[in-house]
Amino acid sequence: MNSDKKLTTASGITVSDNQNSLSAGPRGPLLLQDFHLIEKLQHFNRERIPERVVHAKGSGAYGQFIVTNDIKKYTKAKIFEAIGKITEIFVRFSTVGGEKGSADTERDPRGFAIRFYTEEGNWDLVGNNTPMFFIKDPIKFPDFVHTQKRCPKSNLKSPEMMFDFWSKAPESLHQVTMLFSNRGTPDGYRHMDGFGSHTFSLINAEGSLYYVKWHLKTQQGIKNLTATRAAELAGIDPDYAQRDLFETIERGDFPKWKLMLQIATEKELLDWEKRTGWNPFDLTKVWPHADFPRLDVGMIELNKNPDNYYSHVEQVGFSPANLVPGMGYSPDKMLQGRLFAYHDAQLYRLGANHQQLSVNSPRCPVHNQQRDGLMALHNGADNLNYDPVISEQNYSSGKVSEEATIALSGEIGRYDFRNKEDDYTQAGNLFRLLSTSEKIDLCNNLACPLSQVSPSVLKRQLYHFDQADKSYGQGVREALKNINPNILT
Ligand code: HEM
Repeated sequence: MNSDKKLTTASGITVSDNQNSLSAGPRGPLLLQDFHLIEKLQHFNRERIPERVVHAKGSGAYGQFIVTNDIKKYTKAKIFEAIGKITEIFVRFSTVGGEKGSADTERDPRGFAIRFYTEEGNWDLVGNNTPMFFIKDPIKFPDFVHTQKRCPKSNLKSPEMMFDFWSKAPESLHQVTMLFSNRGTPDGYRHMDGFGSHTFSLINAEGSLYYVKWHLKTQQGIKNLTATRAAELAGIDPDYAQRDLFETIERGDFPKWKLMLQIATEKELLDWEKRTGWNPFDLTKVWPHADFPRLDVGMIELNKNPDNYYSHVEQVGFSPANLVPGMGYSPDKMLQGRLFAYHDAQLYRLGANHQQLSVNSPRCPVHNQQRDGLMALHNGADNLNYDPVISEQNYSSGKVSEEATIALSGEIGRYDFRNKEDDYTQAGNLFRLLSTSEKIDLCNNLACPLSQVSPSVLKRQLYHFDQADKSYGQGVREALKNINPNILT
């Protein structure tokens, strides 16, 4: 033992004894003046911060992004200014519905969030392993998530709640189809693709705007678990994906993903919408590759495990609002909801100064008039605390013209899309894309929870499969009958 390494209190005072509390006589009672004992118990009681309300279980690593293709004609973002340019990144993968201690192999979308520490600030691409989502209006998000969580009365997960919701929200069928395919149980995090999912925008040096969707293509190849294997692993190795990622990086076998984008001008999207009837900003839809081919942008590699899980993976706070100059949002209603939700969640989960934590801190100078608050590690003492100011000491803000403008039309209102939009064609296309054995797996994976729901919910959900493709509905019915021959009578 190194005798220079003294055990201290948090204030740096040497601890005299860490094994025996200070007591009045050998049998006690204990003394209030044993400050070390009291501080130790108090700090222990405060070890937990709230877990993320969604995506609570996760794994993360540092790495690098390298530009491999010139996209400067679409964006002036400096991260893309030269082929070969390298930017440091941090990635957090996650499951969505389970708690912090839940099993990694549960059927669930996987979060795939990347932070690019660019010289112009942090760019966060907070995506999933699926290109679409269950809903298209953020007002439904808390209800949807509640159906994935535990029943308030029984504290059990409930297929009835899940399919009750989904069967009344047919726009979910596209992602439900993906979730119950074998892609719903990826073999760890290295063998899945990632998607920014929303439509974002890029702005070039001339101020022209392009709409884009970001994709991440795994270089390890897609590998999924069967439902049986996933269930086995949930029992014998609930941290399967964490172990796989950590151990692979530890032995120097660094996973990589190709960053790609689909790109379109506003006019191209309008023409596509006229042709297909699909709103390009609807998150329950994808832009088919045949209509919008993917363009290579660069490669990400994960090559360093964090030295402390809590400080980095638990305390990271991503936000889809974090875009750098040369990038912008889109009218996608879900994206608009998310622009609010993440920073707000982190104010609650991590505190007002969470951007000062090392994993969140930009790798470029930060100057603003924000002051004080809990856990202020640094406090902007190098510039004044108000703006505007007639002083050379302060910092100037960017020009208004640096933000792209989007033309809007229409009246303020609550627009009900139900029964007016096509919820089925893309879901059916996804089903038809699967091989025969993948279709059988999908139907069996669906039949398992559906065999536990009430007849009215089952009837409603079967109707949606039929609408997407008659053989989809038929396949699920057959799989249901294999579980219970009388279920449909
Ligand atoms: C309106 C819809 C949504 C809302 C309100 C919402 C809200 C949230 C909240 C509050 C968190 C926890 C943040 C934190 O505590 O740091 C979170 C995490 C996350 N969300 Fe969403 N979310 C929505 C949709 C989506 C979609 C569509 C995606 C993917 C395309 C997504 C991907 C993620 C990921 C990957 C995380 C975990 C980030 C991390 O690893 O720290 N979310 N979401």
